[in-house]
Amino acid sequence: MIKSVFKGDIIHTPTKGEFEIYEDSYLIIENCKVVKISHQLEDLYKNYDFYDFSGKIIIPGFVDVHLHAPQYPNRGLGMDKELIPWLNTYTFPEESKYKDIEYSRRVFKEFINDIWKEGTTRSAVYSTIFLNSTKLLMDMFIESGLGAYIGKVNMDRNSAPNLTEDTYESIKDTKELILEYKDRSELVRPIITPRFIPTCTDELLTELGNLAIEYNIPVQSHLNENTSEVEWVKELYPNSKNYASVYDDFSLFGQSKTIMAHCVHNTDEEIDLMADNGVYAAHCPYSNFNLSSGMSPIREYLNAGVNVGLGSDISGGHILSIPRVMVGAIHTSKMVWLQNQKELAPLTLSEAFYLATKGGGSFFGKVGSFEKGYDSDLLVIDIDNLTTLKTLTPEEKLQKFIYEGSSDNIIERYVKGKKIERPYK
Ligand code: GUN
Ligand code: FE
Repeated sequence: MIKSVFKGDIIHTPTKGEFEIYEDSYLIIENCKVVKISHQLEDLYKNYDFYDFSGKIIIPGFVDVHLHAPQYPNRGLGMDKELIPWLNTYTFPEESKYKDIEYSRRVFKEFINDIWKEGTTRSAVYSTIFLNSTKLLMDMFIESGLGAYIGKVNMDRNSAPNLTEDTYESIKDTKELILEYKDRSELVRPIITPRFIPTCTDELLTELGNLAIEYNIPVQSHLNENTSEVEWVKELYPNSKNYASVYDDFSLFGQSKTIMAHCVHNTDEEIDLMADNGVYAAHCPYSNFNLSSGMSPIREYLNAGVNVGLGSDISGGHILSIPRVMVGAIHTSKMVWLQNQKELAPLTLSEAFYLATKGGGSFFGKVGSFEKGYDSDLLVIDIDNLTTLKTLTPEEKLQKFIYEGSSDNIIERYVKGKKIERPYK
């Protein structure tokens, strides 16, 4: 059993909008879980493994609730188009390469190494349509020690010819993956991943909804990202109430726990349906800028009681770092506030931090906070190279790291109390 004590300036956000800060304190961990934070080290814990990070910040690991592994080679490329032409021009040609397992391995190595480097300890990842490369990605995540939900992408219409699945094969492969991986690893689990409504037939969506319910497997997809996509779904389903209700009608909207990426153009009714069904919104501000999708009014979702996490959306988004994405979310919220005559208050830093840790983390269980019983996923941050001009409080150090720091400032990463080393050479 892991029994350890971490000493340092400990910061987390058990409540949205409030940093809890414990300067020069002790984080007690037993059996992968947080026991408590204390200002003094009690005798009881003096024989625990002791990690002295005095003067450094200790925070929960970051959570990325939306990104695409096979798009990693495309990050920063092809940002001159809107969603649908971007998919056809850049994304589908890249994703069709992953039948090649050696290419898959090369990309996934770099992808997982970089996720590790940026301090993302849990993520919800889209793999490819290919069963073998998806199994490889799951195996590689298991080997890495990082946590992830990983989904084989399903699409059987409106895609590139070499990326259009036979409906029966798509369902069969998805079921195989679920059966093989649902109980294999506590940290790396399958998630059902219809790419989005336009690329999935009714038959496919029906069977995926059935699988989600039968095996209680979570679901991830895209919702109301870009205006031309929203129009397209209206044309495909003229009789549906709205885009969200198409998923809902196929039992893919909170019947098992669900993440919907983007949610830029939801109607009020769709926001309420997300709240009622407990569906998570993955807020992906950089992707929404890059593909001219828009600015998601994330405050409306929070006001309505929708669960929100942050997503890098590699490679619609060009930045993997969740601290960077936090800043993007804050910037977006400030512009939304101005556009709405100063209604819909901007996100504060502590709110953005909450979304990046406990907000998205709750999809994975008791993750993203240092409350008693939470998984002890943590990062140690050293910003001494950024602070030569001024003495900073722990909270200011965290601010500086988020706005100005980089992965170089993350000196150690732990998942469930276990130190995670760089996964691949
Ligand atoms: N909608 C359907 N597929 C995708 C994708 O790969 N990226 C983004 N951003 N949106 C999508
Ligand atoms: Fe996406």
